[in-house]
Amino acid sequence: MNILLLGSGGRESALAWKISQSPECSSLIIAPGNGGTARYGRNLPLKPTDFNAVLEAIRENAIDMVVVGNEDPLVGGITDFLAAEAPEVLVVGPSREGARLEGSKDFAKQFMEAEGIPTARYRSFTAETVEEGKKFLATLQPPYVLKADGLAAGKGVLILDSLEEARRQLEEMLGGMFGQSSATVVIEEFLSGIECSVFVLTDGNGGYRVLPVAKDYKRILEGDKGPNTGGMGAVSPVPFADDAFMEKVDKRIIRPTIEGLRRRGIDYKGFIFLGLINVGGEPMVIEYNVRMGDPETEVVMLRIASDLVPLLRAAASGNLGDLPLEHDPRSAATVMLVSGGYPGSYPKGMEIVGEDAADFTPDTVIFHAGTARNDASLVTSGGRVMAVSSYGKDLAEALSRSYAVLENINFDGKTFRRDIGNEFL
Ligand code: AMP
Ligand code: GLY
Repeated sequence: MNILLLGSGGRESALAWKISQSPECSSLIIAPGNGGTARYGRNLPLKPTDFNAVLEAIRENAIDMVVVGNEDPLVGGITDFLAAEAPEVLVVGPSREGARLEGSKDFAKQFMEAEGIPTARYRSFTAETVEEGKKFLATLQPPYVLKADGLAAGKGVLILDSLEEARRQLEEMLGGMFGQSSATVVIEEFLSGIECSVFVLTDGNGGYRVLPVAKDYKRILEGDKGPNTGGMGAVSPVPFADDAFMEKVDKRIIRPTIEGLRRRGIDYKGFIFLGLINVGGEPMVIEYNVRMGDPETEVVMLRIASDLVPLLRAAASGNLGDLPLEHDPRSAATVMLVSGGYPGSYPKGMEIVGEDAADFTPDTVIFHAGTARNDASLVTSGGRVMAVSSYGKDLAEALSRSYAVLENINFDGKTFRRDIGNEFL
């Protein structure tokens, strides 16, 4: 089949790497892609949120299946648009209504409450109810968790130690700190535990497969300090997500989620990303996303032994049937190289050297994220530049391989965390 993959990050590099290995993939276009994705297919410069441009690319290239990598087009309704304009094309990604699980935290919380899915106690507030919000804060124990209802590029969650500060930030958020995204604010109880990311591929008709579990490292500094980033590294498997834990996840979270979507008549064919927290052995949901995680995909794809394309096709067709999704028994780890200054302001256009030679190491795959080709040279073009992913017989080996390879890749300002996965070693 001819496949169009939308997106430009490390996640899309990893999806492209996996999809392009399939005998069923006759051509792959990555739109817009980045400085590394052309090695898996052809880059096509377009904005995934420009639905008419996507439609034109589908028609010009006889595309059979679209895989939507990032959330923006999904929340904007690309799946509904394509169902109307190009109904013969398969789409991996939920309808606009399904994408509200990520696009509105208030919707996601109401959904979980209605389905009895374990999550933090919460209430939602708007500018009209700000005084009630301040009173609600006083009923909670610190730290206080404030979340913008809508998409805020991963920056919409504030965790505050003092009641005073939480009240002040609530006012700021409702006053437009994140524009329309924080016109509604979810205040919730703080949960204490260790997080992991569970990915489910579902066909919208009750069929689903659980992908290898991963854990990402969000903070910029070692020891999980400093501001949040898009993600500085990830590992898979996650030692605490054992069979007993995953049985609870399946029974209490995955099945009720899929059943709840079906009961509401919500069309959902694609990936469900469960951001979970392990509270004393009990899984609880921190958030839903409606796409794969980044940088989790950069380890999850390494750990899928099965051909992914038949699975994507079957999910998008509405019938996963009994297709297996086998997990590779090896471990995988990825370390993200980021630009100096990230997640604050950082320079672009720094020349990257050493990456080609490094890529010949058999147990390591380098997934480009914020890179671009500038004439003959490869340059940085974003905060997260490259994910260096490796296999190993265990996490220690996978990590040591990635750390060895990344020494050979250089650009001005190159920054990375040296403690990815350390907690499990
Ligand atoms: P979210 O965008 O909802 O994933 O939140 C970003 C991060 O904030 C999460 O990955 C958690 O580390 C943290 N977080 C969010 N909600 C809570 C909560 N209720 N308790 C503790 N930490 C949380
Ligand atoms: N790594 C978290 C995310 O993709 O949202």
